[in-house]
Amino acid sequence: MSLVVANWKMHKTAPEVEEFCRRFPEEIAGLSGVDIVLAPAFPFLSAARDPEARWSVAGQNCSAEPSGAFTGEVSAGMLASAGCAYVLVGHSERRRYFGEEDVVLGFKVERARQAGLVPIFCVGETLHERDAGLTDEVLDRQLSALDEDLLEAPLVVAYEPVWAIGTGHNATPEQAGEALARICRRLSKRSDLRTIYGGSVTPENAEFLIEQRRIEGFLVGGSSLDPQSFAVICRRSTRRAPA
Ligand code: 13P
Repeated sequence: MSLVVANWKMHKTAPEVEEFCRRFPEEIAGLSGVDIVLAPAFPFLSAARDPEARWSVAGQNCSAEPSGAFTGEVSAGMLASAGCAYVLVGHSERRRYFGEEDVVLGFKVERARQAGLVPIFCVGETLHERDAGLTDEVLDRQLSALDEDLLEAPLVVAYEPVWAIGTGHNATPEQAGEALARICRRLSKRSDLRTIYGGSVTPENAEFLIEQRRIEGFLVGGSSLDPQSFAVICRRSTRRAPA
């Protein structure tokens, strides 16, 4: 079963979310073998839920605190009560623009667990780090935020190299496969791990990226905004090479 997640970031107003959810079912009619997740902005979590459970919803972030006087924050418990099954933790835009560091991300994973949410933990190096030969070191450091997490709890790790996000330059299947192999080695004690790739995924490149055996699905930004192109990615993610 593959896993494909739409990260809408700070896109889509209420009518746009409604329109997507009205058109999307037709686009995915008859599709099986893929778990589909939509991650809209917080105000639209309820609107994005599917009463027929053809997809689930995720928060794009959660607070490192369980509750309290933290104006503007949204807790993992609130996400769960709004119907979320997943939450993105450590997206590179959170790390980069909001200063989220490994220690705080470890707390967010803990909050997600307490709320019964599955974390979609995002890791990835910058171009500068890749060019300096630091990719493995960066991934290891980012994954250290999971050191205190329960080994048997379900976990999704998304490899999203920063240089591939929103640039139109996706990682090659070899580059993604190499990084995901590193991630799997680092997390080899985990019993329920799914590994997905993100960064300029399109209907076109999804077809060959999915051939890489470590890529079990996608985390999609730009190409997830349109129901038709996102549905094509969902469909192509089910076409795996024979083992
Ligand atoms: P793009 O697909 O727009 O490159 O975004 C990737 C991403 O950041 C998904 O979380």
